[in-house]
Amino acid sequence: MNIIGPKAYIHLNRLRQNLFNIRKHIGNRHLLCVVKADGYGHGAKAIADAIASEPCISFAVFAFEEAVILRKAGIRNEILIFSRIQKHWLEPASRLNLVVSASSMDDLKILQDVHELTGRCPRFHIKFDTGMTRLGFDLAESDSVFGLLNEKKSLPIEGIYSHFASSEDGDLSYAHNQLNAFKQVVKEGQNADLSFQYIHCSNSGAVLNLSDAYFNLVRVGILLYGVAPSHEAPMNVNVDPVMSFCGPIVNIRRVQAGTKVSYGGVYTTKKDTNIAVVQTGFADGFPRPWYEQGFVSYKGVEFKIAGRPCMDQFMVDFGDVAPEEGDEVLIFGKRNLDKIPVERIAREIGTTAYALLTGIHGRTEHITLS
Ligand SMILES: Cc1ncc(COP(=O)(O)O)c(C=O)c1O
Repeated sequence: MNIIGPKAYIHLNRLRQNLFNIRKHIGNRHLLCVVKADGYGHGAKAIADAIASEPCISFAVFAFEEAVILRKAGIRNEILIFSRIQKHWLEPASRLNLVVSASSMDDLKILQDVHELTGRCPRFHIKFDTGMTRLGFDLAESDSVFGLLNEKKSLPIEGIYSHFASSEDGDLSYAHNQLNAFKQVVKEGQNADLSFQYIHCSNSGAVLNLSDAYFNLVRVGILLYGVAPSHEAPMNVNVDPVMSFCGPIVNIRRVQAGTKVSYGGVYTTKKDTNIAVVQTGFADGFPRPWYEQGFVSYKGVEFKIAGRPCMDQFMVDFGDVAPEEGDEVLIFGKRNLDKIPVERIAREIGTTAYALLTGIHGRTEHITLS
């Protein structure tokens, strides 16, 4: 039975093509595909499954539990966890062959304790904070970090990384400072006789803007999903949106000029018109502020959103066009004749495409298309 409600169509052919185009752009490097937050709202299992067998692909998640879901789904690739380490999941992380991030001396201590106690611990990457002021060792701690790792040569360190705060901006001066700091700390580590199988600093912004930051592994999230990390970054890689977010029309009625629509009565029809009710609301991820300028696309034509979106539904002013009940409108993405970039909505309502994509939830049914 066809369930009526919001649909996120996931175009896996576009995902594979995006991957191909990104790889062509960055050259022959390992790709760490970021599938945290349920694959940026696209469905982590479906995304990972579609590209797992491509060469030189690993995955990154934020939480341990996200990695477990991928393993249970049969994903065998390397999986890196970004979050702080928690002692209670280190043993299962070892068992599941997961790779963890060490971003503080406490993290190293936990790894060391578990290693001494059990004879093993998960492989790990050390993360330095070069200017994001989020997780990561302070640069000033580098001597202690490298000293300890040198002393405990049996600890399975595998990589070193950092994260940019503004690699997607037009002004790259801060990103260049971060990159220089990262290069310096990598050099210090190598001078301290440590070797790192993986060195990485890039995210999507850096893929587009900072080829000097590629090293031998590139982390990529939003670009893989076919979305620009910001409107300032040059879109020098061809990508197509992987998600098309759509909602079904469940009612259509003719109303007279001067009719108020939805909560607060902030929308009044200017002439006699067809008002459609679409069964998708902000509880499903519809961007609620997207109504003052907002529109949907239907058969290649844009129609204005009428009034404030509700929790489960919103209304559209179709004028004299009369769609059928059951027809779908495109909210964002690209499907058939319809195209609305999620980046445009994000910009107009003062948020980011990251927030809009990861906000797709509630009753939204994900449908993968190959
Ligand atoms: C540590 C880290 N690396 C890489 C990414 C991927 O970033 P993007 O989606 O901009 O490629 C993220 C996402 O927030 C992140 O937190």
